[in-house]
Amino acid sequence: MSAQTRIIALATSNAHKVREIAAVLTLPACEYRTMADLGITEEPVEDACSFEGNALIKARFVFERSRVFSGVPCATIADDSGLEVDALDGAPGIFSARYAGEGADDADNRRKLLEALRDTVPAHRTARFVCAMAFVDEDGHETMVRGTSEGTITLSPRGEGGFGYDPLFLPDDVSDGRTMAELSPAEKNAISHRGRALRALQAILMQRED
Ligand code: IMP
Repeated sequence: MSAQTRIIALATSNAHKVREIAAVLTLPACEYRTMADLGITEEPVEDACSFEGNALIKARFVFERSRVFSGVPCATIADDSGLEVDALDGAPGIFSARYAGEGADDADNRRKLLEALRDTVPAHRTARFVCAMAFVDEDGHETMVRGTSEGTITLSPRGEGGFGYDPLFLPDDVSDGRTMAELSPAEKNAISHRGRALRALQAILMQRED
């Protein structure tokens, strides 16, 4: 690591998110550190009522704790994301990770969603993924971006890629009927809520370097 290398902490323990962030956000002379890399084992309480609020809680939490690793706080990125289903008045929304209850896994959440939409016809199964991405720089200056991806919920899961609700999500930006879980990682990043938020963040950070 050169003296010029900037360490960026990723405030997530979700390996899928880490891969997607590292693939899209290509800042010069940066190295990423996960919470595990930084020895941060606690998780913050995400009790805000918006994606943005929860992203900031995570970012500030890891920013403060990263001092232990390097003596000064590391620039930190946190993502809070989820699925909003119109027929369910925006649920599961900020509760996407624990929709089927504390300790529920992705398959439990998908089953609960399909059950909740059992009587909803395809035309009314519209939904969107939302990603709020918070960035805290080394001086504590905060930046927030949001990305969304519009689509429809399928009648049954399809595909092995991605994570979470991907096998149930037919993105409007994909014309051949594949679910998000049937896209390659690069195809998903090109149209996903997280990919869009990351490109917005990249543009802001690159502009600041000019
Ligand atoms: P978070 O870790 O609190 O932001 O919770 C995010 C939850 O939303 C995940 O556990 C998934 O259930 C869902 N989610 C967020 N992003 C995606 C995605 O890219 N694909 C599928 N599900 C996602």
